[in-house]
Amino acid sequence: MARDHVLETLRDAIGDTPVLTDPDIMAGYVGDWTGRFVGRTAAVVRPANTAGVAAVVEICARHETPLVPQGGNTGLVGGGVPTRGEIVLSLRGLTDTLSVDAAAAQATVGAGVLVSALHAAASAAGLAYGVDLASRDSATVGGTVATNAGGLRVLQHGDTRAQLLGVEAVVGDGSIISHLAGLPRDNTGYHLPSLLAGSEGTLGVVTAVRVRLVPATRARAVGLLGFASVEQAVTAASLLRNGLPALAAAEFMLSPGLDLVIRACHLSRPLRGRHAAYLLIEIADKTGAYAVGSGTAVGGIPGSGTASRNIAGRGITGTGSAGRATVLETLADAVAGLPGVQDASLAGDARGCRALWAYRERHTESISTFGTPVKMDVTLPLAVLPSFVETVPATVTGIAPEARTWLFGHVAEGNVHVNVTGTGGEAEDRRIEDAVFGLVADNGGSISTEHGIGTAKRRWLPLNRSPSEIAAFRRIKQALDPAGILNPNVLLPDAP
Ligand code: MLT
Ligand code: ZN
Repeated sequence: MARDHVLETLRDAIGDTPVLTDPDIMAGYVGDWTGRFVGRTAAVVRPANTAGVAAVVEICARHETPLVPQGGNTGLVGGGVPTRGEIVLSLRGLTDTLSVDAAAAQATVGAGVLVSALHAAASAAGLAYGVDLASRDSATVGGTVATNAGGLRVLQHGDTRAQLLGVEAVVGDGSIISHLAGLPRDNTGYHLPSLLAGSEGTLGVVTAVRVRLVPATRARAVGLLGFASVEQAVTAASLLRNGLPALAAAEFMLSPGLDLVIRACHLSRPLRGRHAAYLLIEIADKTGAYAVGSGTAVGGIPGSGTASRNIAGRGITGTGSAGRATVLETLADAVAGLPGVQDASLAGDARGCRALWAYRERHTESISTFGTPVKMDVTLPLAVLPSFVETVPATVTGIAPEARTWLFGHVAEGNVHVNVTGTGGEAEDRRIEDAVFGLVADNGGSISTEHGIGTAKRRWLPLNRSPSEIAAFRRIKQALDPAGILNPNVLLPDAP
């Protein structure tokens, strides 16, 4: 009854159309796409602007009705799902704002705008947006801010938080805070964009942001490299990161994962043989420093015999050919001078680059063909990453003998996505998570690289955050969300 009254009040405030109660329509909002988190709700509310969001939050606060803000629903930790019957506040309608200020190299973007639409707008102005991820066609900018998404370009441009120059948001009492001028030097108090990024909808509902844009990539080259061990791949990634300023991405995969992607996506084998570990690397020309040219070299190590440049941890050295090299030549030279590379495929044209990226980007969908995986997303110091990668599968099978562990990730930042399929149910899943997160904490790592805490990991937050940090988190939440209605079942562990 009380819920009916809230829905009526919402309809009076923002109209009938944005308050959805048809179960068939709501089905697309109550579960995440992995199928791991499914909730229920009395209504999905889809305001079309910031004033509408403010009205919804104010009404929910007044009636002490919890809500879950939701963007494109591409999250992986249950942070946008109404697991305890909360109202879903969908921000997908906030798409009207998308303006690029080319002179300032910035954009003002509504929360509901897709990441791919922001890419397109930036590109039309000769610029680029620094965050990119495989879910770019369904993830919203607001959702990536709320989760501080990382993705494939953190090495070059940082995470979503690093792009933010301003934010507009509705805090827990329904008031709007807005600071979107985008002044690159602005030292006037607390940096609210930083606080809201990664707060997973617990402190405020992000309605728009001002983001920095970066120079567009003029040319890129991608390499898929095979190694005999994870340790060699990690060493190679470090050498490349320290010696190749144009390095734009460094991702790692293992043999079982690559084989699975080949099978599930009907792709051809990218290298002649199998290798224990693979690196997917990209270099990007952002300044026009490289000569124009492209091409693809599949199989074998291109550049062999012309390895006039080396990665020596201090930059690319050597004679090179007269004049400027293309990005592909630069990549080929770097790979030829890299220890441990058993084989490599390189591409310098758009089609070839996309084809090589597919082996990495399509891991998630390929793993999902086994059903809903247990998904963990952790960071390790690079020095212990190889031993972690070797230990985890045995740790998992020690608990769930039938389970399979899939490991891949953003190696330059020490990230490992640990996906486990074929487990024996929830109790076993919890024991696996306990064991893996324990191993991460013992090795000085983080239990969330980029997916956030959500509902999935809140009980393990104390592994990474001290009691006084968590107490400070609670005080910040109390200040911005006094009624405790904003995503109350996410991020913070249950109160003691
Ligand atoms: C990715 O980098 O592909 C995703 O963040 C990983 C995942 O699905 O676990
Ligand atoms: Zn990732």
